[in-house]
Amino acid sequence: MNTVEPVVKDIERWTPARWDQIIANQSLKEYFWDMIWCIRQEGHRSGFNMLLTGNSRGGKTSGITLGIKALGCFHLDMDTFNPCGRCANCQAKIGLYGNDGYENWVDLYEDEETAKKAVRFLYLPLDCTRLNEADIDNVLGKVRVNDGNLKIVYLDEVHRLTRRGLDEQLLKPLETCEAIWIASSAYVRKDERGDATDDFRRPSSLEKMFQNRFTFRLETQKPTMDELTLWLAERCEEWGIRVEDAEQTLQRLAERSCCLPGMALQILNKAHKRRSKLLTRQLVEEHVFDLDE
Ligand SMILES: Nc1ncnc2c1ncn2[C@@H]1O[C@H](COP(=O)(O)OP(=O)(O)O)[C@@H](O)[C@H]1O
Ligand SMILES: [Mg+2]
Ligand SMILES: [Zn+2]
Repeated sequence: MNTVEPVVKDIERWTPARWDQIIANQSLKEYFWDMIWCIRQEGHRSGFNMLLTGNSRGGKTSGITLGIKALGCFHLDMDTFNPCGRCANCQAKIGLYGNDGYENWVDLYEDEETAKKAVRFLYLPLDCTRLNEADIDNVLGKVRVNDGNLKIVYLDEVHRLTRRGLDEQLLKPLETCEAIWIASSAYVRKDERGDATDDFRRPSSLEKMFQNRFTFRLETQKPTMDELTLWLAERCEEWGIRVEDAEQTLQRLAERSCCLPGMALQILNKAHKRRSKLLTRQLVEEHVFDLDE
């Protein structure tokens, strides 16, 4: 089944709708493909806890969002793992902001024909920058219900919890609740690759909280300049953006955005907002990047 590609009006809010639109981040893709398979074909319900670290604007949140969409899609293509884009679950907004019902139960019994194995799941994405104690209690109440349904909690920017001392509340449930906990963080320790002794002597709060709680520890990867240049050319074609002096302009764009796709999209968005839909070298050179934190 073909996926539906809506006309893109706002590149700043664009997120990949198919796996081939995600550049690099192969281990993240594999994680979701395995997870979706195990859940939908074999009935797994837990054991997939995953902590994803990596640069801001490197595809953590958008990759996880696509994975969740695919998991709940009523007409999921089990070869490509691409969601259909038109079923009730695909149409539901499941972003972290301004959502309209990402908490809904997704009941794959609704379509027994295509669902290999019925899954009911509750998806709870949490923005840890704004979460308070009451929010955490509320979520835990839902996760603790022992009904055999699949529950997935997504803790976005999880380092903010530790900074605000809210992590304690989640430590035990992370281990004891039958759920899948997914966390992402732009925070990466400087001594990330240190050995075990190092870790012991210099525990960071993030490390301490997550020691042994996440079976899967993944990192996003930056694409190479050439890969990103190619990906940008594909996006420009998809969105009807013409590029002046294409090869050099796109290469320079990849370079200026430090090979972070989300950074490069800031400039594509500007070109897309022009009547001419023209991306120029000047636009690339003059852009001031919007950085966070
Ligand atoms: N590897 C990637 N492949 C495709 N799109 C990406 C990738 N990385 C970032 N993006 C795009 O850039 C935007 C910002 O990425 P996001 O997933 O929010 O990054 P993070 O959560 O790591 O800060 C997303 O909307 C997404 O469209
Ligand atoms: Mg993010
Ligand atoms: Zn769907």
